Amino acid sequence: MNKPDRMTVATWKISSALLEVEDLEAALTNTLEVLSEQLNAAGGAIWILDEATGIMHCVVSTGPLDLTGITFENGVGTEGLVVSTEKSAFFAETEKAEAFEGDIFDDQGFKTRSLICVPLNDLKKTIGCLCLVTARDGETFAEEDLKISEHTASLAAMVIDEKGLKVNLPPEKPVLMELKDITKEFPSGEEVLRVLRGINLKIFKNEFVVVLGESGCGKSTMMNIIGGMDHATSGSITLEGQNFSVPDEKALTEFRRSYVGFIFQSYNLMPNLTARENIQFIAEISTNPRDVDEALGMVGLTDRAGNFPSQLSGGQQQRISIARAIVKNPRIILADEPTAALDFKTGQEVLRVIEGIVHSGDTTVLMVTHNVEIAKMADRVVKLRSGRVSSVKYNEHPLHADDLVW
Ligand SMILES: Nc1ncnc2c1ncn2[C@@H]1O[C@H](COP(=O)(O)OP(=O)(O)O)[C@@H](O)[C@H]1O
Ligand SMILES: [Mg+2]
Repeated sequence: MNKPDRMTVATWKISSALLEVEDLEAALTNTLEVLSEQLNAAGGAIWILDEATGIMHCVVSTGPLDLTGITFENGVGTEGLVVSTEKSAFFAETEKAEAFEGDIFDDQGFKTRSLICVPLNDLKKTIGCLCLVTARDGETFAEEDLKISEHTASLAAMVIDEKGLKVNLPPEKPVLMELKDITKEFPSGEEVLRVLRGINLKIFKNEFVVVLGESGCGKSTMMNIIGGMDHATSGSITLEGQNFSVPDEKALTEFRRSYVGFIFQSYNLMPNLTARENIQFIAEISTNPRDVDEALGMVGLTDRAGNFPSQLSGGQQQRISIARAIVKNPRIILADEPTAALDFKTGQEVLRVIEGIVHSGDTTVLMVTHNVEIAKMADRVVKLRSGRVSSVKYNEHPLHADDLVW
C-alpha cells in the first residue's frame, strides 16, 4: 500500500471506531486496537491528565498489559514529558533515549524498543496523551506512524471533549505524609552515589501501600527516611500537613517512638526475653501504647506469650515482631520485606495479620516486597525505579491474603 492510502485507510477506520460507538471507553479501546493493528504496534494506552493533582491516569489500554489504574506524575514519566511540552514524540531506540533510562515498564515485563507519544489536545489545552509501544519483532515506528497517531489523538480529543470522559479517580483519603523531591546521596569514595533522585509520594491515612522495585533501587533508603531513621539529602516532608523536613532530635525521637512501627525481614527479637516481654519492653517506652495482650491477640499468638524466640517458628517470630510494632499504636507501619525469609504458608499468615491491622484501625501500612503477587493485596502499588517513583497503581479490588498464590 502506498503512503496516502495507508493514511487514509487508517484515518477512516479510526474515525469509524471512534464515532460509531455509544460507550466512550469502548470507543477509545476500539480506537487503540485499530491503531495498533494499522501501525503494527503491540499495544497502546490513553492517559488523561487530572488537572487538580497534575497526575496522569491511564484510562484505557490495549496490548499485553493492563495499564489502567496506573498513574504518573505529569512531567516525570515518559508520558508526562510529552504532555508538559505539548509536543509529539517518537523514540526509535528507547534503550538509548535518556527519558526512559532503559526499558519502560520493565518491572512489569514490558519492554519496548520504539515508542510514540502524542498529546491529546482539545480546543484549549492538553488533556492527556496517547501512547503506543513496540512495533513487533523489534521493528521501530516510522515518522508516518507518528502522523497517523497525531491524527488519531486529535480525533480522540474531540470525541472526549464532546462526550466528556470521567476519570475514575479513587476516593482521596486524608494525607498522612507527603514526600516532595526527596533525594538521598551517599558518599562513595571520591564520588557520590545518588540513591534517591526526587521521590514524590503522598501517603494517605489508613491505606495499604506496597512498594515494589528491583534490588538496589532505593526502597529501604526511602523507608528509612520515612521512618525518621535517616535524613534526606534534600527535599521536604510534611506530616499531617506540618513541615517535618528537619525535625529536632526530640520531635524525631518522639516520632520514632510513637508514630512509626517497624517490621524487618529479620525479626530482631531479644533472645533472652519471652514473646510477651519483647512486646512489653516496647510498650513501656511508648507514649500511647496498646495493651500488650491485645497486641498478642491481634497476631494470634496469645498462647505463645511465655515462649522465647528460639521456641517459635520463623513465621511466629515475625508475628511477634509485628505485635511489637503495633503495640506502640503507631500511625504508620513500615514493613521492609517482612515475608522474604518465610515460606508461602507462614508468609501468608504474616500477611493476614498485616491485612488485619489495616482493616481494623486507622493505621497505614507501607510494605516493601519483591513479590508482585503480594502487591495484589495493596490499595496502591508504588513502583520505584532508579531512585524515583516510576508508577503508582490503584487497586480497585485488593485481594485478601488468603486469595494469594505464589
Ligand atoms: N548507608 C549507605 N551507604 C552507602 N550506600 C548505601 C547505604 N545504604 C544504601 N546504600 C546504597 O544505596 C542503594 C540502594 O539501597 P537500598 O535502599 O537498600 O535498596 P533496596 O532496598 O531497593 O534494595 C544501593 O546501591 C546501596 O548499596
Ligand atoms: Mg531493601
